Amino acid sequence: WGKEGHIMVCKIAEKYLSEEAAAAVQELLPESAGGELSTMCPWADTMRFRYHWASPLHYANTPNVCNFKSSRDCHNSRGQQGMCVVGAINNYTDQLYTYGDSPKSSYNLTESLMFLAHFVGDVHQPLHVGYEEDEGGNTIMVRWYRRKANLHHVWDVSIIDTVMKDFYNKSLDTMVGALQTNLTEGWSDDVGHWENCANKRATCASCSYAIESIHLSCNYAYKDVVQNITLGDDYYFTRYPVVEKRLAQAGVRLALILNRIFDKKKADT
Ligand code: ADE
Ligand code: ZN
Ligand code: ZN
Repeated sequence: WGKEGHIMVCKIAEKYLSEEAAAAVQELLPESAGGELSTMCPWADTMRFRYHWASPLHYANTPNVCNFKSSRDCHNSRGQQGMCVVGAINNYTDQLYTYGDSPKSSYNLTESLMFLAHFVGDVHQPLHVGYEEDEGGNTIMVRWYRRKANLHHVWDVSIIDTVMKDFYNKSLDTMVGALQTNLTEGWSDDVGHWENCANKRATCASCSYAIESIHLSCNYAYKDVVQNITLGDDYYFTRYPVVEKRLAQAGVRLALILNRIFDKKKADT
């Protein structure tokens, strides 16, 4: 996602944090966050060029097939296992489990938290689990209405921008509020299922998020798209509900992961 997508995911997550998790997050956040996790959630993208090794951690691609297998697909371009978004979620989750250890954890848990919050968002952007051949839609040139874009950017940014403009008065907070209303009303039957998979080992959970994403990539993002196509109302009205649901889902799951990490810590002591 772009900046706004990541902020929305984290604003939703903040609303679902337990007291213990909220307190731990407060303690780990840097001063510059102003006490809000959401302000730090786009951070990992600004580090993409400085932390070169972390660039492949934002996504995972498949060999142009509609299924995802960690052992086959979770690696960087040098073939190192675990260097993908699924591995990163597991790794930073494990690091955060050392919170409160004595002697003090040797990890920079502030960075672990900011990376985890970002990558849980990214794994829910369908095209962050896409085809290797087109780099998750980055090499598929399209028009979004009149404007030139690539398919990946349409899903990271353009659909969200258009939705905010059309339905939410260009206000991010209004959109977040609407997604939350949907969580408690429209999607309330689904939310239990989203929660279920977070209860498994982190590995299974982040893997199932990736499986969902490649399915959504095939069935929605890539579907009927060819080079230089113009995407307009038909595409927009059938795809924006997927984007809204994935943003909300990412927020709920991020909160569940953080609650599990920090509530367990409390149970240990
Ligand atoms: N670069 C290569 N593949 C990508 C993907 N699926 N998402 C984001 N950036 C990428
Ligand atoms: Zn992206
Ligand atoms: Zn990212």
